[in-house]
Amino acid sequence: MKTQHAVFVFVSLFLGACDPSELQQPQEITLQLPSQPYSYNLPVKDDLPTLGRVLFYDRQLSINNSISCSSCHKQELGFADNVPFSTGFAARLTSRNSMPIQNLNTSIGPIDDTTPGFEPQGFLFWDGRERVLNNMVLKPLINHVEMGVNDLQSFTKKVTGIPYYGDLFTNAFGDVKVTKERVAEALSWFVKSIKSNQTKFDQHVKCGGLVPVLSPLEAEGWHLFLEKYNCNSCHHVQQPTGYSMFGGTFANIGLDKEYSDNGVQSVSKRAGDAGKFKIPSLRNVALTAPYMHDGRFATLGDVIDHYKTGIANHPNLDIRLRNSDNSPRRIPITDTEKQALITFLHTLTDPNMIGDPKLSSPFKTN
Ligand code: HEC
Ligand code: HEC
Repeated sequence: MKTQHAVFVFVSLFLGACDPSELQQPQEITLQLPSQPYSYNLPVKDDLPTLGRVLFYDRQLSINNSISCSSCHKQELGFADNVPFSTGFAARLTSRNSMPIQNLNTSIGPIDDTTPGFEPQGFLFWDGRERVLNNMVLKPLINHVEMGVNDLQSFTKKVTGIPYYGDLFTNAFGDVKVTKERVAEALSWFVKSIKSNQTKFDQHVKCGGLVPVLSPLEAEGWHLFLEKYNCNSCHHVQQPTGYSMFGGTFANIGLDKEYSDNGVQSVSKRAGDAGKFKIPSLRNVALTAPYMHDGRFATLGDVIDHYKTGIANHPNLDIRLRNSDNSPRRIPITDTEKQALITFLHTLTDPNMIGDPKLSSPFKTN
């Protein structure tokens, strides 16, 4: 009965489709899922994680079945992409560098987004324009460059017509009904389940420095990062999010004298926010090249060279990157120190997250 219903919707939706901008027909696809759901030991609805995982990796979510979330957020790259701008469904490029996804919420479970002052997700996107993950995860779907869905109603009909979602929605929500709220909840659950907390650096923090975990060069890099050059005043690597509310979420680091993309200003409309971008988490940073909101730097060495010689005197340049006479504080990092900093940044790579089968593609060919 359930299958017949699905087939009927599927046929009636696509027989009448003649507008090329409408959603294209789903393809034959095989899923590779474990026979038993993964155990999360967390208070979630029955099998929300599996549904979220399939949605995240499913290209059929885009209007022409070409792009999934994972096209631009690749597990092996810390859920970022390895190009300055990623390619969307119509071969057009995104206007910013894809962001890594990890630790977007430190406590998985029911979240009351309406509680004043309780903002567990922090700010999302380079300019912080979204705050609530359940709203945010639908944005790439309807984005005209990314996945191109014009109309969420035909989208939910399309998903209803894809045979494997019947069981997945039933296992997650108790019945086959596909709604945008359910899609958002499942996607957002998956995104929140991407956690990084098992890096070499985490091990170092856990051991409290009592047992030497870092090599001498890595330890030297950590010292430079934390103390001598105070990178940690912005990139709070001990925090799961990579920044601390205390040190602020956004900063202008003087990439240009005038930015072509003004980041936070495009949201707040305040001149004082021009050129400010979200302070990126440096977890898995060794995997997420190229760097910055526009992917302008190909390597970590290039990033260090920016802090050494490239900082421009933008009116909003952060005070932490200014000298007492207000001039840009170009940090005199030596070649050996540069090597130590880069070596330290590699200790923030999390092999467990990158290799976690729970976070991997369930599609045989994807
Ligand atoms: C075509 C490439 C592309 C696709 C497809 C895509 N994204 Fe993104 N994603 C980006 C880019 C680029 C950004 C940064 C955009 C900005 O800041 O304006 C981003 C940002 C994000 C962020 C913000 C992370 C942070 O730390 O603030 C999350 C979460 C995210 N995407 C999840 C998703 C999900 C879920 C999907 C699928 C529904 C998806 N993305 C599909 C390119 C893509
Ligand atoms: C004033 C705050 C601040 C300080 C101090 C700072 N950074 Fe940054 N860092 C940022 C911001 C903001 C960005 C993103 C800027 C953009 O894209 O426009 C960034 C980007 C980066 C990136 C690229 C990350 C990515 O995913 O693209 C690396 C690596 C980095 N910083 C390392 C360092 C190191 C090493 C130091 C110390 C020498 C340092 N930062 C000091 C704020 C800061």
